Amino acid sequence: MAKTDGILRSGIEKLRAEIALKKLDRERIPAHVAVIMDGNGRWAKRRGLPRIDGHKAGADSLRSVVIGCTDLAIRYLTAYTFSSENWQRPTDEVSGLMELFREQLEREIDELDGERIRVRVLGRLDEVPAETRASFESAMERTAHHERLQLILALNYGGRLEIADAARRLAQEAVSGSRTVESIDADAVASRLYAPDVPDPDLVIRTGGNLRISNYLLWQSAYAEMCVVEKLWPDFRRSDFFRALTEFQHRERRFGRLTSED
Ligand code: IPE
Ligand code: IPE
Ligand code: MG
Repeated sequence: MAKTDGILRSGIEKLRAEIALKKLDRERIPAHVAVIMDGNGRWAKRRGLPRIDGHKAGADSLRSVVIGCTDLAIRYLTAYTFSSENWQRPTDEVSGLMELFREQLEREIDELDGERIRVRVLGRLDEVPAETRASFESAMERTAHHERLQLILALNYGGRLEIADAARRLAQEAVSGSRTVESIDADAVASRLYAPDVPDPDLVIRTGGNLRISNYLLWQSAYAEMCVVEKLWPDFRRSDFFRALTEFQHRERRFGRLTSED
């Protein structure tokens, strides 16, 4: 019975995704989408399960969103997997997450490589446990030449930390004489962020309903459109992703300017 339910549900989701996909304007697909994958703990709690089961269930959602990006030729997807503040969680949750990231990456890497998806990490990877770090390093190396989609995993990432790291590098350059203090402007800061070649996100989607940024892409999301979805991350599917993109397409982006109608 449970199996039939599952088949039925995935059939319905497929139809929903097809309908949502048809509503999208193919001329206005964002280049870069960022996601704050929140709500795993609440999803597990509602089912009386340990939090780590919520994180495990979230893996399928990321898979769906990656497929959604390839459907639409989106070039960059940045996913918040672990923040620099998440170390403050109980040690069993942290170690469970680190193990899960490694397992999930090792399970998916053949397919990611086959689909020509480049895996990157945004954050201080050197502070991540050795085995997890090794998996990410090997995935990055193996897929470095792919260009179809960049899957950027924000891991041990904090927006303030990233800006502070950039400031430190610029200060070092000024002290060593390789640049002048006067040359330090917004472009210089942007050039010293963790992935300076990646364009700013056009859209940031947060699941789980909370209206906050939680130290994510603080510099880069200056003019990103925000879309907060009530659904918890493990329930988020391709159809939800396409609906968020439709919402994005109805927004008017102004970047501080006026439009022709003003
Ligand atoms: C987000 O889900 C995933 C991580 C922070 C790793 P949460 O674990 O924050 O889930 P909630 O917000 O407690 O429901
Ligand atoms: C943001 O969610 C981090 C990730 C999704 C990895 P959090 O759950 O850590 O954020 P807060 O604590 O609700 O702001
Ligand atoms: Mg949370």
